[in-house]
Amino acid sequence: MFYGCLRHGCRSKPSWMSSRRPNKARLSLLKPYEFWLNYGTVVEFYETLKLRVKKLVRQEIQDLSAYPVPNSDGMLKLDAMENPYTWPAIAKETWSEMLKTLPINRYPDPQGEHVKDEMRKVMGISDDYDILLGNGSDEIIQLLAMALAKPGATILAPEPGFVMYKMIATFCGLNYVGVPLTEEFELNETAMLAAIDEHNPELIFLAQPNNPTGNLWAQDSIQKIIEAAQGVVVMDEAYTAFTDADHLALLDKYEHVLIMRTLSKVGLAGLRLGMLVGRSEWLNELDKIRLPYNINILTQASVLFALEHYDMLLVQTEQLRVDRLVLMQELASINGLQVFPSEANFVLVRAPQGMARNWFEELKNKKILIKCLDGGHSLLKDCLRITVGTSEQNELLVSALNEISTSGSVH
Ligand SMILES: Cc1ncc(COP(=O)(O)O)c(C=O)c1O
Repeated sequence: MFYGCLRHGCRSKPSWMSSRRPNKARLSLLKPYEFWLNYGTVVEFYETLKLRVKKLVRQEIQDLSAYPVPNSDGMLKLDAMENPYTWPAIAKETWSEMLKTLPINRYPDPQGEHVKDEMRKVMGISDDYDILLGNGSDEIIQLLAMALAKPGATILAPEPGFVMYKMIATFCGLNYVGVPLTEEFELNETAMLAAIDEHNPELIFLAQPNNPTGNLWAQDSIQKIIEAAQGVVVMDEAYTAFTDADHLALLDKYEHVLIMRTLSKVGLAGLRLGMLVGRSEWLNELDKIRLPYNINILTQASVLFALEHYDMLLVQTEQLRVDRLVLMQELASINGLQVFPSEANFVLVRAPQGMARNWFEELKNKKILIKCLDGGHSLLKDCLRITVGTSEQNELLVSALNEISTSGSVH
């Protein structure tokens, strides 16, 4: 196998080869005679590389596609359930002054104790329960999956749901069972109970409100599912800030329920902080596989700062709740658009038959990015998901959609 520098005969990999493939730009750095002399060796190098990756990486990982994040440069971003607001200049200034003082040469607090204390206060979490912090709730899903990944173990979730449940099941070598919701995106209680009976899952995720449908499910169906489950049931409350419903009380009643939350949707997505709340018997086990210092010092300090100013975030979420209603009403008045109920900071809509991708692309041409869900799941045919923005952003979106829906353009 080739691993030296073609130009200088040394054995270390030259800089022009340091990234993935022998593209034209890199090969053109060679003089013509060097090019013809060495092309075969370079091809062989990359063939060997490809073969080795294919041989060594687990097949189910090779079969996956990485979590898709579209390029949003210069776009109005209404695709990822982010809070559209930033902080007032004075708050930003105080925050950045504080960041300067942090000892970034030192490891952070390994448990994030101060952060947990503050989260407990602002979220009203009783001292009876422990808190585990994750690098986003994505990391918590991964910790749960890793801890429960005995051979043949299963994760079960209603579908359509948050895509990371399935992806993480695959990463961690668990089976995944998705149980379709009803046409109205309600829990299919019978199907859920039958699937629990058949697969006896180690882990069930119930997102409330659900992503991407935005709705809450009947509380008695949720309880029946919890009671039927032999494994752990995680109530994923990523969108809790946008609804009055919360499931903390389930912790008192059921020893196998855990509650997962995140700060991503209330304006701190860039900090990556998720939390799991539950009994220490569960959380102590998960803590053993949490990587040391998973919450970095900048995140810990910034979250503490933000939680000190939690009112500021609450004002923003309240505004988004008001604007969600206005947006839903305006969307409902658009020709042919069906709007589903939402308790989250996004709204699921169904475009006229066969038009979702077209409308999504037309919006993109107008520099507005939303999420096209058509093709992702049979229940999401013709569906689009729109994150609630500021009232000005929502107006831009609505007027663009009005234009698109009346222009009748189909490409
Ligand atoms: C239901 C649900 N759970 C969890 C997450 C992950 O959030 P985080 O940013 O904390 O990883 C998301 C993100 O969109 C979500 O929709």
